[in-house]
Amino acid sequence: MTRYRKEDPEITRRKFINVAVGTTATVGVVSLVSALGTANPVFRLTRDKMPPVKGDILVHALESKEGQPIRPGELSDELIRAWPMGKDEQGNNVIRKGDPNNILAVYRFPKGQLVEPTNLEATVNGEIVVYSDVCTHAGCSVSDNEQRPGTMNCPCHSGQYDPKQGCKVIGGPPPRPLAQLPVRLEGENLVVGDFFLQHPYPFSEEGWEARKEQVKEQLG
Ligand code: FES
Repeated sequence: MTRYRKEDPEITRRKFINVAVGTTATVGVVSLVSALGTANPVFRLTRDKMPPVKGDILVHALESKEGQPIRPGELSDELIRAWPMGKDEQGNNVIRKGDPNNILAVYRFPKGQLVEPTNLEATVNGEIVVYSDVCTHAGCSVSDNEQRPGTMNCPCHSGQYDPKQGCKVIGGPPPRPLAQLPVRLEGENLVVGDFFLQHPYPFSEEGWEARKEQVKEQLG
C-alpha cells in the first residue's frame, strides 16, 4: 500500500506562491523579450551622447578652458579641440562629451589654402573648418603632425590626413577621410550648421543615416 506523506499546509501554500511568482516572472521576461524582439526598439540617446547637431556651439575641450566658447580670433593652423555644446530637456547647456567620439578638430587657414575636397560651403568664409577628431581606422584621437607641418597624424598606427584638403587620407591605414562638420559664425560663436557631412567613426554609412534619423526624431 502506497503511503503518502502528509505535507504541512503552510509549506504547500508557500510552494504554490513560489511557483506562481516564478511562472509570472518567467512569462513577464518572455513577454518583454518578445516585445523587444518584435518592436526592435531604438534606445533613447541622452543629450550628452548625441552627435553634434544644428545650433550647437563649439566650446573648448582643453581641461583648463573646457566649456568656454571658441572665438574665431583664437584659431590658427594649429589644431584646437572642441566639444559641441547643446541644450538639455530643461534648456540648460549640455556639453556633448558623454560620447568621446564627439571630439572635434578646429582649424583656421589663410584664405585660399582650404581647397577641395573640403566642402567650402560648410566652412566659415573658406577659412575655418571643423572635422571629427576621431581616426577612421580604429578611433584614436588625431593630432597635428610635428614632422610634417600642416598635416595631421594619428599616434596609433601613423594614419595621416590633410586638413586643407577635406582631411583626405595621405598615409597609413585609415579607410576614409575624417568627417567634416558644417559650421557658421553667429556673432563670436562657432555654430554647427548641420550633421557631419560623411559618416564619422565608428558608424557605417547606413548606421550613420539611422543615427541621424533617431536624433531628429528625439529632438522633434
Ligand atoms: S587608429 Fe588611427 S591609424 Fe589606426
